[in-house]
Amino acid sequence: MEWIKSFLHEREKTGSLRVLQPADKKENGYVYIGEKKYLDFSSNDYLGLSTHPDMKKASIEAIKTFGTSVSGSRLLSGDFLIHHYLEEKIADFKNKESGLVFNSGYQANVGIIGSLPGKMDVIFCDKIAHASIIDGTRLSPAKTCRFLHNDMDHLEILLKKERNKFRNALVITETVFSMDGDVCPLKELVQLKNRYNCTLMVDEAHATGIFGRNGAGIVEKENLSENVDIIMGTFSKALGSFGAYIACSKKVKDYLVNVCRSFIYSTALPPSIVCANVMALEIVKKEPDRRKILLENAEYFRRTLKQKGFNVKGSTQIVPWIIGDSKKTVEAGRILQEEGYRVFPIRHPTVPKGQERLRFSLNYYHDKTILKKLCNDMSKHFKI
Ligand SMILES: Cc1ncc(COP(=O)(O)O)c(C=O)c1O
Repeated sequence: MEWIKSFLHEREKTGSLRVLQPADKKENGYVYIGEKKYLDFSSNDYLGLSTHPDMKKASIEAIKTFGTSVSGSRLLSGDFLIHHYLEEKIADFKNKESGLVFNSGYQANVGIIGSLPGKMDVIFCDKIAHASIIDGTRLSPAKTCRFLHNDMDHLEILLKKERNKFRNALVITETVFSMDGDVCPLKELVQLKNRYNCTLMVDEAHATGIFGRNGAGIVEKENLSENVDIIMGTFSKALGSFGAYIACSKKVKDYLVNVCRSFIYSTALPPSIVCANVMALEIVKKEPDRRKILLENAEYFRRTLKQKGFNVKGSTQIVPWIIGDSKKTVEAGRILQEEGYRVFPIRHPTVPKGQERLRFSLNYYHDKTILKKLCNDMSKHFKI
């Protein structure tokens, strides 16, 4: 255990030790820690659905009917009609033939990417894709090529060089990037996928509930569901719940049910979660103002910070302020925390060195008055 001691010591010395910071409770955009109340700019509950009365009701009713657990994996005793109902709803929402539910986004990406491409295949993946995607490529026997972030010229260079050496090719990216808040060039990705005969998988974890006419995501917004083979997403962000899904063809679903280890060897989602997930899809369709207001406010926040000289990025509800230095980022987070804002420093290895940032993740409760005050507080504290 000596190596653990020296690892922790080293992290402490360099100020990079990660520690858990529990909250007491959360409510309507605020989080309570001890005596203090913070405006929450760190959660992915973008639409505020995790405390929506209908979501709570759906969960409670499900527990009354089914109990707290399904007590088995989907291929054994844990498969209930409510799981299939949710999968039909997902397929319909995403305009694909079938849906398949997973226990988390991490498990979905690791399992799908780990089991779809074989050793004669190749994966092309965005360089800053989420850790769950990267870990999926590590589990896969396929060769992985990583293209520069959102750089379609670089992807094409790699496709020209590598594609013909392999049997099948999987291109994978996020539609809304979790740490940068920007959007992938989906039309160009589809063109390249068609030109080089690849399968295209996108992770819509941060786009679902926010973009598109019905809130289904960027694929819906761009009207490209027929061209994207596998649309993955989570219930744990804007949908205010837990778990994940893919929308795909029936063949891909049937294949994964047979081979995807993170699907097969894990207890299925409990009824309280499954029913909340069904409810979340209904609320997203029924209450479009939530996403409309969120995106308008995010645009206002980004524009105001830019005008004040802050180096902010993105075009979505995720607004990163790039500081570019680990210590300065931690200090900026601490100052804002003292002012009553909960916002976390994002450091290496989550983002590349020199790209350290505060990530403001906006939600439905952050109105313009709150955002104006935050911008003014930032100007007061930070010389840009
Ligand atoms: C892009 C992306 N994919 C997948 C995941 C994992 O989802 P989950 O939290 O449901 O495991 C995340 C979570 O942060 C994410 O940002």
